[in-house]
Amino acid sequence: MADTVCAKCGGSGWIIVEQDGISGAERCDCVAAERAGRIEDNAGIPPLYRSASFDNFALPQDNPIANRGLAAVLNTVRAYTREYPVLPKPGLLFIGDPGTGKTHLAVAALRKLIARGFEGLFYDYQNLFDRIRASYDATSGAADKEAYRSALDAEILLLDDLGAHRVTDWVEDTITSIVTYRCNHRRALIATTNLPDPDAGDALVERSADVQGVRYRTSLADRIGSRARSRLFEMCKVVHMPLVEDYRLRKTVR
Ligand SMILES: Nc1ncnc2c1ncn2[C@@H]1O[C@H](COP(=O)(O)OP(=O)(O)O)[C@@H](O)[C@H]1O
Ligand SMILES: [Mg+2]
Ligand SMILES: [Zn+2]
Repeated sequence: MADTVCAKCGGSGWIIVEQDGISGAERCDCVAAERAGRIEDNAGIPPLYRSASFDNFALPQDNPIANRGLAAVLNTVRAYTREYPVLPKPGLLFIGDPGTGKTHLAVAALRKLIARGFEGLFYDYQNLFDRIRASYDATSGAADKEAYRSALDAEILLLDDLGAHRVTDWVEDTITSIVTYRCNHRRALIATTNLPDPDAGDALVERSADVQGVRYRTSLADRIGSRARSRLFEMCKVVHMPLVEDYRLRKTVR
C-alpha cells in the first residue's frame, strides 16, 4: 500500500491549506486510504474474493430478465453502501442459489464500506463455528478464542454461507446469540445463504419425480432456528438473487 510516497503530502500525512490568507495543516487523503487498506488486509476476505467489486460484477447479456433482475440487485446493494449507516435496517441478507454472485456482492459491499472508513470482518459460517468450538479446548490458540468476541463486536460482520452446517442445539444457540447481540446493538450484519425462506418468496415444497411427488426443502429456519431467523429479518434488508446461470459453470464453459 504505502510503497510509493504520496505526491500530495510527500509522505508526511499533512498538507498545507490556505484559507482567508491563513495557512494551516490538514490531514492528507492518503492517511484515510492507508488506514482503509490496512483494515481491508485484516478483514479476512478469502483470496478468491479479494478484488470483488461492483465494477467487476457482470450483468448477463443473453437473458434480459436475468439482466434486469441482477441490475436491480446491484442497485440495491450500491445504495446500501452509499447510505450506510443511515438506514432503516443496518444489514443485508443475500438469499439465492449457489453461483449467483452472493458472496461476490457481499464482499464488494464490505470493501466499499471499508473504503468509506468503516471497519468490518469476513467470516465463513462453517469456519467461524469450527473456531468457536475449538476455543472451548484449553489448548486452542488466541485467534480461536477471539473468534466469538469479534463476531459480536465487529462494526460490520460478513457471515458467508449462513446455515451451511449441521444443526445442533449448540450451533442454534450460538448463532442466535450472535444475531441477537448484533441486532440489539444495531451492528451491521451482511449475510449470504443458499437456503430458501418463504418470506423471501421461496417455495419450501418442490415437485419431484419420486413416489410421493413432493420434496420438502431445508429452510433457513430449519438450520439456524426460528429466533435467529426472525432477528435476521428484523435487522437485514433481504436481497433475493434472481435466477441466473451458475457463474462458476458459465466461466468454465467459455
Ligand atoms: N455477475 C458476476 N460477475 C462477475 N463475477 C461473478 C458474477 N457472479 C459470480 N461471479 C464470480 O463467480 C464465482 C462464484 O460467485 P459467488 O459470489 O461465490 O456465488 P455464490 O456466493 O452465490 O455461491 C466468484 O468467483 C464470483 O466472483
Ligand atoms: Mg457464496
Ligand atoms: Zn498524502
